[in-house]
Amino acid sequence: MQYNTIHVEASRCYDIHIGRGILAELGNFIRPVLGDCRLAVLTDSNVDALYGNRIMEYLQAAGYNVCKYVIPAGEASKCAESLLAFLNFLASEQLTRKDAVIAFGGGVVGDLGGLSASLYLRGVKYVQVPTTLLAAVDSSVGGKTAIDIPAGKNLVGSFYQPSLVCCDTALMDTLPKDIYRDGCAEVIKYGMILDADLYSILHTLPFDREAVVARCVEIKRDVVQQDEFDNGLRGLLNFGHTFGHAIEKLSNFSVSHGEAVAKGMVIAARVAPLCGLCNVADELSALLVEYGFDISCPYSAQDVYDALLSDKKRRGGKISVVLPRSVGDCTLVDMPVEELGVLLSKVIA
Ligand code: GLY
Repeated sequence: MQYNTIHVEASRCYDIHIGRGILAELGNFIRPVLGDCRLAVLTDSNVDALYGNRIMEYLQAAGYNVCKYVIPAGEASKCAESLLAFLNFLASEQLTRKDAVIAFGGGVVGDLGGLSASLYLRGVKYVQVPTTLLAAVDSSVGGKTAIDIPAGKNLVGSFYQPSLVCCDTALMDTLPKDIYRDGCAEVIKYGMILDADLYSILHTLPFDREAVVARCVEIKRDVVQQDEFDNGLRGLLNFGHTFGHAIEKLSNFSVSHGEAVAKGMVIAARVAPLCGLCNVADELSALLVEYGFDISCPYSAQDVYDALLSDKKRRGGKISVVLPRSVGDCTLVDMPVEELGVLLSKVIA
């Protein structure tokens, strides 16, 4: 079976395997890393219906004793109640420190599984098995884990690296179009921030999924290795996210993460020339439209500004925004929040 392996050197070192059909090899990938242990699979109702039996059979065939816990699909499951319920499940199954969690799903499952693993018995190992494009290129790599609380998204979490990532790109064949497109926004983001060659490949649709996922993961790996704990460079991965999160919040999460990031990237690209940087807004907008994104901002500049004020990236009176210098090269710019408010009023009609 053909697959790519990308190695990450962080506070925990691990391999990320990427290829079509490699879920069948999961047990063989796990054995050299975790040895003989019990495995608790965390998944959601959508993934369970399609692939729940398959992952259990593969792991059992590889000699593993496996249990499974299923959460309802959707962001609402990324909450304190689900966290506690899963921790109780791990305890009821008497998992020990040598056992491990398998997070089998998209971003919600990955974030919840990772956070649970970091807390249960003060830390057990976990494996990310992403099933969405977004989780494959972003949330399954780099060790950010979190749940949402009423005050905001991802406000409770930890940096806790997985022991292995196994990305079977064939699992994405069954994704609804809009969920797959959400991941495409993150892929375009990687091209914009750090790789003009990747960006130009993305003009040819459909792109080579395995090659593109591998390239995005390499870019994320390189960033995480330099700034695992998000003190500087890792902020580049937030291109489009500062404005995107504001739009997601204003829409009460009816605008999906990918759609919001697409709108946010266009706003950032429009702000850039007002800060003396180049203007790639038309070029970026055209690519996003090719992918079917609606890039208009349905909220006023004042609404977006107000929503921004509670952003995690705000430090006192300053906020950090990622702006393009050219396609494939973005930079972090710290500016007073009021100044950003004035710029927003010039770029959002
Ligand atoms: N998703 C952004 C990061 O991992 O830093």
